Amino acid sequence: MRLIILEDASVVADWAARFVLQRIKEFAPGPGRHFVLGLPTGGTPLGMYRRLIDFYREGKVSFKYVTTFNMDEYVGLPRDHPESYHYYMWHEFFKHVDISPEHAHVLDGTAEDLAAECQRFERLIEEAGGVHLFVGGIGPDGHIAFNEPGSSLVSRTRVKTLAYDTLEANKRFFDNDISKVPSKALTVGVGTVMDAKEVMILITGAHKALALSKAIEEGVNHMWTVSAFQQHAQALFVCDEDATLELRVKTVKYFKSLMGEHNKLIEDHS
Ligand code: F6R
Repeated sequence: MRLIILEDASVVADWAARFVLQRIKEFAPGPGRHFVLGLPTGGTPLGMYRRLIDFYREGKVSFKYVTTFNMDEYVGLPRDHPESYHYYMWHEFFKHVDISPEHAHVLDGTAEDLAAECQRFERLIEEAGGVHLFVGGIGPDGHIAFNEPGSSLVSRTRVKTLAYDTLEANKRFFDNDISKVPSKALTVGVGTVMDAKEVMILITGAHKALALSKAIEEGVNHMWTVSAFQQHAQALFVCDEDATLELRVKTVKYFKSLMGEHNKLIEDHS
C-alpha cells in the first residue's frame, strides 16, 4: 500500500488527475484496446475531474478509448435528477471530454429489476476485461462506494440500504432534509473494487481522519470496509494533511519520506 500525503485538497486533486493521466498514457489505448477506469462521485473527486478536463483541453489526454464504470447510483432517482450520479458524471466530467456515452457506464437505479441490473453491470466489467484503475472515495465511517459498515468484504454489485451516517452526510445535497435522501442505492461491492488491477482512494478533510487511520493502521475489518484494501496488491491512498490527524507520527513520517518515490508515479516520460 502506498500513502501519498499532500498539502491540501487541491494538491490531492492535481496529483490524482496526473496519476490517472499517466496510467492512461502508459496503457496507450486505441481501437479495441480500451483503458478501463472505475470512478466515484461526491465532493472529493470534483477537483480531479476538473484537472482531467484541463488535461483533455490541453491535448494531453483523450478519453475516446477509455471505458468507465461508476461505483454507485441512488435507487429511484431518474438520470436527469440533479442529485443522481448519472447527472453528476455527465455535468462534472463526461460532457467536457471526448468519452463516448456508450462507454461510460453508470448503474441504473430506476431499473425494474435491480438485481438484474447489478448482474448486468458485473458482466459488463468482465466483458471489458476488468478494471485497470478504480478511483474511489470514502465516507467518514470508512465506507467505500456504498459499502456501509458491516458490508461483506467479498461483496459484488448489489442493492444496499444506506446507513444513517451516509444519509446524514448526503442530506446536504437534498435541501438538508434527510427524508429526501434515497434510502437505497446500487453499489459495486468491495470484491468488485478489489478485482481492479489498481485502486486509488482519495481522502481529504479532518472529518475523514479516523476512517483513514482505521483503513491503514488497524486490521482488516468489515466495520471499516475501506480497510479491505490492505489486502490489495496495488492500492494507493491519496490524502491531504488534515486527513492524517489521527495517524501515528511514525506512519506519517515514514510515508512522507517516500514522497520522492511516489512522485515518480506522476512523472511524464513522453
Ligand atoms: C461515491 C462513493 C462514496 C463517496 C463517499 C465520500 O461514488 O462511492 O464512497 O466517495 O461517500 O463522499 P464525499 O467525497 O462527498 O465526501
